[in-house]
Amino acid sequence: MKEVRLETVLEVYNDISELPESIQALMAKAAEARDKAYAPYSKFNVGAAIRLDNNEIVTGSNQENASYPSGLCAERTAVYYANAKFPKAKMIEMALTASSQKKLTAEPIPPCGACRQAIAEYENKQNHPIEIYFMGAEGKVVKSPSLANLLPLLFESSVL
Ligand code: THU
Repeated sequence: MKEVRLETVLEVYNDISELPESIQALMAKAAEARDKAYAPYSKFNVGAAIRLDNNEIVTGSNQENASYPSGLCAERTAVYYANAKFPKAKMIEMALTASSQKKLTAEPIPPCGACRQAIAEYENKQNHPIEIYFMGAEGKVVKSPSLANLLPLLFESSVL
């Protein structure tokens, strides 16, 4: 037996103003999308904005459904839309922001496990890391240099 240790290194910023203007602008697009989320059941709005290497910005928000499992998270709405619309483009940076309609969301909200797996598909396809920036409605912003850094031991197509 040997023990294996996996390490995730993240950068934590106290405020979005500490990040480059291009990331602030991307986060502003994510906030616009977040505020248009369709979340009448959870009352938890999430917005995603992705900058592509063709300089397009694609956004998405969570879309809920009366049949709860039929809804979709903001991140998957955004990556599926990006790859549907610009299948040849690479995803460079993704900004995420979440805001409860019931209380202040002041801590960074990371993407859920299913979304990490979905984003990983495109990171592998394009063979280029996707930087992920995530926050709540305000406060700290976390940067991960790649999706793989957020999902150790991910399931990859190479095993199929
Ligand atoms: N949600 C997202 O959009 N992204 C995540 O990574 C986690 C959760 C949405 C799904 C649902 O509409 C609401 O947040 C509460 O779970």
